[in-house]
Amino acid sequence: MRNTYTQRFNVDYTYPVYFTRDMFSQKNSILRKAIAKCTGAESKIMVFIDSGLVKAQPKLIGKVKRYLKILPVIIPGGECTKTARNTEKIIAHLMNNNMCRHSCVIAIGGGSVLDTVGYASTIYHRGLKLIRVPTTVLSQNDAGIGVKNAINHAGSKNMLGTFAAPSAVINDVSFLTTLSTDDWTGGISEAFKIASIKDRQFFIWLCKNADRLAKRDLSVMESLINKCAILHLDHIRKASDPFETGSARPLDYGHWSAHGLEVLSKGRISHGHAVSIGIALDSCYAMIQGFISKEDLARLLKGLTACGLPIWDRLLENKATLSYLTSNALEAFRIHMGGRLTIAMPCPIGKTTEIGSIDINALHESLALLCFLAVTSKKK
Ligand SMILES: NC(=O)c1ccc[n+]([C@@H]2O[C@H](COP(=O)([O-])OP(=O)(O)OC[C@H]3O[C@@H](n4cnc5c(N)ncnc54)[C@H](O)[C@@H]3O)[C@@H](O)[C@H]2O)c1
Ligand SMILES: [Zn+2]
Repeated sequence: MRNTYTQRFNVDYTYPVYFTRDMFSQKNSILRKAIAKCTGAESKIMVFIDSGLVKAQPKLIGKVKRYLKILPVIIPGGECTKTARNTEKIIAHLMNNNMCRHSCVIAIGGGSVLDTVGYASTIYHRGLKLIRVPTTVLSQNDAGIGVKNAINHAGSKNMLGTFAAPSAVINDVSFLTTLSTDDWTGGISEAFKIASIKDRQFFIWLCKNADRLAKRDLSVMESLINKCAILHLDHIRKASDPFETGSARPLDYGHWSAHGLEVLSKGRISHGHAVSIGIALDSCYAMIQGFISKEDLARLLKGLTACGLPIWDRLLENKATLSYLTSNALEAFRIHMGGRLTIAMPCPIGKTTEIGSIDINALHESLALLCFLAVTSKKK
């Protein structure tokens, strides 16, 4: 039966990632087993849950209560939750419940909630056990499955954070049915990102299935998430630098400008949509530099657009944005990477090369090309 479809992948960094459906049905024992594996029978458990998820799925609170015999704490969902103030509130809950280092926190929600609950639980008592239950496309295929937690600070994305492996991650696609259109499409950009630099076959598959993804086909989305999550996990395992001690960040393709656009738009452009614009821009750059073919650039832009993702934003028409991107955003990215600018590019599609600088003239050319291609794709 489809609903009993369950897979478990072990990675060397060493937490299991489970793929399932209907995880809070009484028959599904994955979460119970994951808790038993990381804590003793006497250990305390707390559940933090995303307010946006609860609003969209009000019966969830009752299901969690029946399954775990615990009342979850609801915390605000979305990017605005990633603050020091909310972190303190979560820590206050942990203290009031006498949580100790053997206790287990279960975070249920989008990437923002997972980042914030993850950050609070990894600094409180130098780290509790953490089980992540991502409930958006982006958090299931990227944000929720790695080893990073962070909040925003002083106007900078993810400025305060920790590297800490979770005890387990449980990906349940049945959560995704209530996502807004933007949050459904947002995570697809991370799949195009990783396919472009790691897996040509997956890239072709994405382009071919773009229409079905746009029509919210859950089975196609499930395949996308599983593949994408495994590619991310594989990278964490094989690149031997899960805690990013070096300067290379091969999975951050398209992200240097994406982070800049997120900040400049004051949150109007979500992470997923900013990444889509960022990889569209970097792919134009890659084509101009001879890294990828014209045909693959056209395929990528068509695929992103067919999924309902943006490849352009009016912010890019503003001269101040351009100077911000070419100075502040690149500099912020360099510092974030550990001092040496290292930008991943596809070369060709499906493989990665790294570059240590951006040629400003070629970047201007890329912007002009992207603007032209975005306008012509709209007219079609
Ligand atoms: N830690 C990492 O490695 C990592 C990697 C990539 C991105 N991120 C971070 O992840 C964040 C973005 O995460 P996101 O894209 O999941 O968005 P999000 O967490 O901001 O959630 C978007 C909205 O969806 C709501 N929501 C959550 N699940 C829902 C559901 N099933 N149905 C209906 N609504 C639901 C939320 O309340 C919120 O309003 C960014 O802050 C980004 O920086 C972290
Ligand atoms: Zn990302």
